[in-house]
Amino acid sequence: MKKITKAVFPVAGMGSRFLPATKASPKEMMPIVDKPLIQYAVEEAVAAGITDMVFITGRNKRAIEDHFDKAYELEAELAMRGKEELLRVVREVIPAHINCIYIRQTEALGLGHAVLRAQPVVQDEPFAVILADDLIDGDTPIVSQMVDVFRQHQCSILGVQDVPREQTRSYGIVGATPLGSDIEAVNSIVEKPKPEDAPSTLAVVGRYILTPRIFHHLEKVQAGAGGEIQLTDGIAALMREEKMLAYRFKGTRYDCGSKLGYLQATVALGLKHPEVRGEFAAYLDSLK
Ligand code: UTP
Repeated sequence: MKKITKAVFPVAGMGSRFLPATKASPKEMMPIVDKPLIQYAVEEAVAAGITDMVFITGRNKRAIEDHFDKAYELEAELAMRGKEELLRVVREVIPAHINCIYIRQTEALGLGHAVLRAQPVVQDEPFAVILADDLIDGDTPIVSQMVDVFRQHQCSILGVQDVPREQTRSYGIVGATPLGSDIEAVNSIVEKPKPEDAPSTLAVVGRYILTPRIFHHLEKVQAGAGGEIQLTDGIAALMREEKMLAYRFKGTRYDCGSKLGYLQATVALGLKHPEVRGEFAAYLDSLK
């Protein structure tokens, strides 16, 4: 029985849809209420029992490294001012038993290229890939749900959700055969198909569990759409060789790589935030 102990976080994208906010800081450091996107993603991995966090960083990598590092000066300052609650918040950004590993993707050559950079650390273990800009809010964290499915099936698993057919152009879309209410066997996968060419409306979103054989395929993938090495192409090759499942996760996904999704996440999580939810709900009501 294989266990998932490593998660890969590709955080080296251009984030061009969020310029100028992403000019000097990665998109994954943008906050939803009071936590950066990357922290939500890491918390999801921690909840799933993952202990090694592998960040694939690009330009402006410092902000992410600093976020998960000990902040001696800040802690000393907060302690001196007696700000115990804030001190706790800062110290609890990441539990002490978690390892953070940073690997540089020197050029943003695509998600597949970013994931391949993790090979020296992941080696021959199955691993999770988490795209922090897909924020998914669920009663059970989504990676935990997927690790449970992996425990049973011991194969690659793609987190999927149904999207309106006119949106297939924005996603990797799978062709799949239902095996249960939330699990399907993947038969095909296409990157950003036109609505009329899409094999279904089941879109792959930013949660994957992959077997290490993916690296072998990613090494061979040629640059595709937009000159990028697509993770989808590696997954398509892996699927021809190994069993692969699509899992309809239970939760609400916010595409925080887009302005609208980001605003929706802010409203949804603002309405749940213990400190502001009451006043925020009243404010939203006042706008009606
Ligand atoms: P996106 O497709 O959202 O691209 O990447 P992007 O460049 O970040 O954003 P836009 O389209 O320019 O606004 C999906 C995920 O893959 C990572 C991104 O950081 C994001 O988490 N990524 C993408 C990399 O790490 N490296 C790459 O070369 C490309």
